Amino acid sequence: MDIRDVMDLVRQAKVFVQNRDMAEHIKVKGPADYVTQVDTNIQNFLSEKLHELAPDIQFLGEEEGLHAMSGDTFWILDPIDGTTNLIHDYQHSTISLGLYDKGEIVMGIIYDPFREEIFHAEKGKGSFRNGEPIHVAAAETLGDTIISIGTAPYQKELAHENFQKFERIFTKCQDIRRTGSAAMDLAYAACGRTGGFFEARLQPWDFAAGMLLVEEAGGKVTRFDGSRINPTEPGEILATNGKLHEELQRLL
Ligand code: IPD
Ligand code: CA
Ligand code: CA
Repeated sequence: MDIRDVMDLVRQAKVFVQNRDMAEHIKVKGPADYVTQVDTNIQNFLSEKLHELAPDIQFLGEEEGLHAMSGDTFWILDPIDGTTNLIHDYQHSTISLGLYDKGEIVMGIIYDPFREEIFHAEKGKGSFRNGEPIHVAAAETLGDTIISIGTAPYQKELAHENFQKFERIFTKCQDIRRTGSAAMDLAYAACGRTGGFFEARLQPWDFAAGMLLVEEAGGKVTRFDGSRINPTEPGEILATNGKLHEELQRLL
């Protein structure tokens, strides 16, 4: 399978993102957690097209009905990462697609239809933005860089602990950022726009593609305590350029 064929399919989903009527058809999934017709239409479109492209590969998508993880190899799709942004027309949402194979992510694509940026990586082949190779930031210390944070908005019970972490890190780095799309945060860490990103609770579809992008761009991705991530399990994510990893781990 050629990754360029997969990237073409992901780009075709832009028409759904541009449809404001669909974005205004909203269902509530949980506290502060919504799904729109854009999310479900993209998932249906891509699951069908990916099946035509590679019939043997199973599919795991965030939205209803396609939750099962089965087999050794499957796609992991977040049809819209940044649904709250999409609802408010905040223009920071991405499509995130990873390919899981026997314990690791081997392909990752993150597409930002608002800026026409497509990030991609394949295991062992590096990371790219619109076809050009990308690398993590050169920053040696937090004082040299900005850090993006995820607020874990569906776990408001973690807010106090999270905001203490943000304060500790904010006072050491140049500034913090919050985009509202974890996949975008990971892509930005991969191309060196930030020194790193962390969030206390993410799902496999939020980080699968981004994790590979950061690693292939020369960075490091672990749980907060530095342990290895099983990409099928939800949890914390700490992604950095590698050089900042220990400093951030101490502050988390
Ligand atoms: C969310 C976004 C957000 C992050 C949340 C995610 P969704 O994904 O990535 O930035 O803070 O933890 O769940 O719900 O928009 O797909
Ligand atoms: Ca998501
Ligand atoms: Ca989503």
